[in-house]
Amino acid sequence: MTAKIIDGKAIAAACRQNLKQRIQQQTASGQRAPGLTVILVGEDPASQVYVRNKQKACEEVGIHSQLLRVSAEISEDELLKMVQSLNNDNSVDGILVQLPLPDHINEPRVTESILPHKDVDGFHPQNIGRLLQKQPELRPCTPYGCIKLIESTGEPIQGKRAVVVGASNIVGRPMAMELLLANATVTICNSKTRDLRAEVARAEILVVGVGHADFIPGDWIPDGCIVIDVGINRLDDGSLAGDIAYATASERAGWITPVPGGVGPMTVAMLMENCMTAYLAHTAD
Ligand code: GUN
Repeated sequence: MTAKIIDGKAIAAACRQNLKQRIQQQTASGQRAPGLTVILVGEDPASQVYVRNKQKACEEVGIHSQLLRVSAEISEDELLKMVQSLNNDNSVDGILVQLPLPDHINEPRVTESILPHKDVDGFHPQNIGRLLQKQPELRPCTPYGCIKLIESTGEPIQGKRAVVVGASNIVGRPMAMELLLANATVTICNSKTRDLRAEVARAEILVVGVGHADFIPGDWIPDGCIVIDVGINRLDDGSLAGDIAYATASERAGWITPVPGGVGPMTVAMLMENCMTAYLAHTAD
């Protein structure tokens, strides 16, 4: 079987186009545009690329974006004060602190300081808890985007055996909750899983987010499986590779996301969507 490609780039562009129109309707009726503020701590090159992509997307859809760049030497207290002042600013609908943060800053403390209804990353324990309890509000962007990509195949998620490889707070855990919300039967694999190959072999939907190039060999992929590769790994020659060995996997899967051009653009599109959700909830009161 040769897999059909899930074109995340095109699907994300369609999401942004739809959102742009909804924002235009708001501003045409005299409302202010939604506003996102991003805090970037330090000079991490990958973070700078991600933040630039988020700003470009804001510009395209009509979200007012503000970037606050601060030195890697900022103290945790100073960073918490910045978040506090954005929490109190009514023109800011969404707040995003780009991760990773320098070692001297406690990441969960910063994430939890963002008001849950401005937490457009969906990382706050309240937003994670709501997803867990089947009442999602602001949903973690990458898993939310993966669900949209799976839905784009037209195949029902309900009742399928879904296997998630990787159990991080940002990807694996919320991904499993999203799949459960969609009524899949979910297995979460972690670094201690015995016989990972046997777990993967059962998958009708496979989502991998571990951050190691070609971690899952292509010949592990079951025939016809919907394969979602969350990995974006920079190789020594400068090219990008996913967590799944694409060439062989695409001979076996039913559907597969490419890297780049799969999950990455959808993460940003879902961030834009979350900004709109936060804005609509905020402007309603
Ligand atoms: N660093 C890598 N991915 C993300 C993300 O989705 N959000 C934030 N805030 N930081 C990240």
